[in-house]
Amino acid sequence: MPKRKRIKKRRIKKTIIILIILFVLCFCGYLFYKHKYDYTFKFKKEVIVNIDEKVDSKDYVLEVKNVTVKYPDVDTSTPGVKKIIYTVTDRSKKKHTYTLKLEVKDNIAPNIDAKDSVDVYVGDKVDLNSYIKVSDNVDSNLDVSYDKELDTSKEGNYTITFTVKDKSNNKSIHKITFNVKKKPIADITDLPDGIVGKTSKGYTIENKGGATYVDNILIANKTYVLSSKYGNGLTNETQYAFNEMKKDALAAGFDIRIGSGFRSYSSQKTIYNNYVKRDGQAKADTYSARAGHSEHQTGLAIDICASGYNCITSSFNGTPPANWLSENAYKYGFILRYPEGKTNETGYKFESWHFRYVGKDLASKVYNGGDWITLEAFYGITSEYN
Ligand code: DAL
Ligand code: ZN
Repeated sequence: MPKRKRIKKRRIKKTIIILIILFVLCFCGYLFYKHKYDYTFKFKKEVIVNIDEKVDSKDYVLEVKNVTVKYPDVDTSTPGVKKIIYTVTDRSKKKHTYTLKLEVKDNIAPNIDAKDSVDVYVGDKVDLNSYIKVSDNVDSNLDVSYDKELDTSKEGNYTITFTVKDKSNNKSIHKITFNVKKKPIADITDLPDGIVGKTSKGYTIENKGGATYVDNILIANKTYVLSSKYGNGLTNETQYAFNEMKKDALAAGFDIRIGSGFRSYSSQKTIYNNYVKRDGQAKADTYSARAGHSEHQTGLAIDICASGYNCITSSFNGTPPANWLSENAYKYGFILRYPEGKTNETGYKFESWHFRYVGKDLASKVYNGGDWITLEAFYGITSEYN
């Protein structure tokens, strides 16, 4: 073999050996690196869980090799997107962090605490929100809505559907049936003594002994009520004044008598309730007083009848004895208490037979020269049920 060829062959051999050595070195280096730094950590990148769900961050790790992992605690008590960070330490003690996106969803509907059925009265102003209590595991501001407003103008049973939503759109529904009933008439048992105030015309209003006095004149009407215990018969002045008037009426040709005098709280209650049964409350209120509101309970009011004429009925209106009473009663201290055309003041229809004893002075002022005025207008007071 020529010398040049041999040299070339040796060079090739040398190069191959160097390459083999380099390869072996690289392979050893690779093995060394792999042993020291190589690891596997696979995990779920995104997870959705429910609020308050018990979860372990380990559960989202899919594969772990050659590494120690610090598993973080997971708080699911509040909704929202949270970062769960795993700290991973490889065999070279190098730390790596991996972040899992964890979405905590509120899937719990708000709680409604409410009755299924509620009684309210006709005419009540009803705040529907006051009938339900709502709470939620997360939100303090809940959206409360209802399918309709409650109409309390008429009696009946009305079901209203309440819907309560939280911010995550979880909703609860509750139905309440409102039983709209007629307002019961309260039994008045007491009226404490004391000055109540002044009328619109400046007269003092005072409660004394279970009745209300305006300028020291007893007032019983729709506004001013009597104690249920008040009254024990016609007052002496009333009876005496009537006896005087009866004599003069007889001389004028009218044989008058008391058709209805004193009526106790409980007898007025029976009378009124019977009228309500017959005509309904709204109509009964135009001509009959509720218990505690009748002047007949004061012992100062009388319904006057005359022989030969219908008694305590509108057919008495305009009859000769009715006209005589209207023209003369004031002379004995009586007033025509519910004059014609004064319903909006007295609260009652015209009653040509109902007279109230107030004493001669006041009676002649209220007589007003034949154009009867009312105690309500005279004193500046109302006659309205509240
Ligand atoms: N009729 C009158 C208003 C009453 O019931 O007292
Ligand atoms: Zn009467």
